[in-house]
Amino acid sequence: METQKEIKKAIIPVAGLGTRFLPLSKVLSKEFFPLADKPAIQYIVQEIKDSGINEIIFVISPQQKSILNYFKKAPELEKILAKRKKQALLDELAAFHNEFKGIKMTFVIQKEPKGDGHAILQAAAHIKDEPVANSFGDDIMYSQTPALAQLISIFKTCNAPVLGLKRLPRDKIPAYGSVAVEKISSNLYKIKKIIEKPQPDEIASDLVIMGRHILTPDVFAYLKKAKPGKKGEIVLAEVLSTMLEEGKQIYGYELAGEWLECGDKLKWMKSFFYLTLKDSKYREEMKDYLKTIK
Ligand code: UTP
Repeated sequence: METQKEIKKAIIPVAGLGTRFLPLSKVLSKEFFPLADKPAIQYIVQEIKDSGINEIIFVISPQQKSILNYFKKAPELEKILAKRKKQALLDELAAFHNEFKGIKMTFVIQKEPKGDGHAILQAAAHIKDEPVANSFGDDIMYSQTPALAQLISIFKTCNAPVLGLKRLPRDKIPAYGSVAVEKISSNLYKIKKIIEKPQPDEIASDLVIMGRHILTPDVFAYLKKAKPGKKGEIVLAEVLSTMLEEGKQIYGYELAGEWLECGDKLKWMKSFFYLTLKDSKYREEMKDYLKTIK
């Protein structure tokens, strides 16, 4: 058993092609699409911070270097705003930078989009012999206790990889990673098997894996030796599945909160409206406006 260590770092892979958003994703990655008035990535960074983690490793594509600028101060812009006496805007920018100033952000490049597992592996040089959190850039969790904080508290009790799970209607599951599980206690499961994109008769439960994980050094060892699968990619779910076949323990936790998916156009639109209607700044006016649309 690995010795237990604190989770101090989170990886966010954002180097995927986002083909379900083409042609828009040729110029803007889906992780930067707005949800209400913020890009998806900001919700993810906020969740990481609120989970007590203050070091983030972004895995970006060579075209995405501008991502670096989003969380950075823009002194030239601030000078222009000051000259134009836009104090309210300057205050808003200052509050934004203040929120994230304690977070160390590192960027690593995935030269080619060879899969989400391959992307995670690119962060390995920044990870010592320690467990890390991983958040995929197109899954937002809206919850009272941050999703990663929920997984971290489970990790403390089991010291093995922990995967965020959500429950879905059976007819939706063939598009996801289905899990066969053994229940341990309320919401906590031992994962027995992962079946990526199952046929209807292969669906093992109504739980699926989603984009929040606690990964141990063991997972990195398996990622390192993984060969590209059917699609020519190294896929995290497939690597975890191999670990299970070889007798490794992996746990799953059914997360509390609303899972807002942003991986395709309709899901993103629904998540946009969900978060807009949850924001007291916009709720009433947006509700009234939506009622006027016939
Ligand atoms: P997805 O499979 O949802 O993203 O990856 P994708 O491949 O960009 O989307 P489609 O299927 O073509 O529409 C989950 C996460 O892993 C990242 C994505 O950016 C997303 O946050 N990812 C995926 C990488 O960083 N690199 C990859 O090679 C693949």
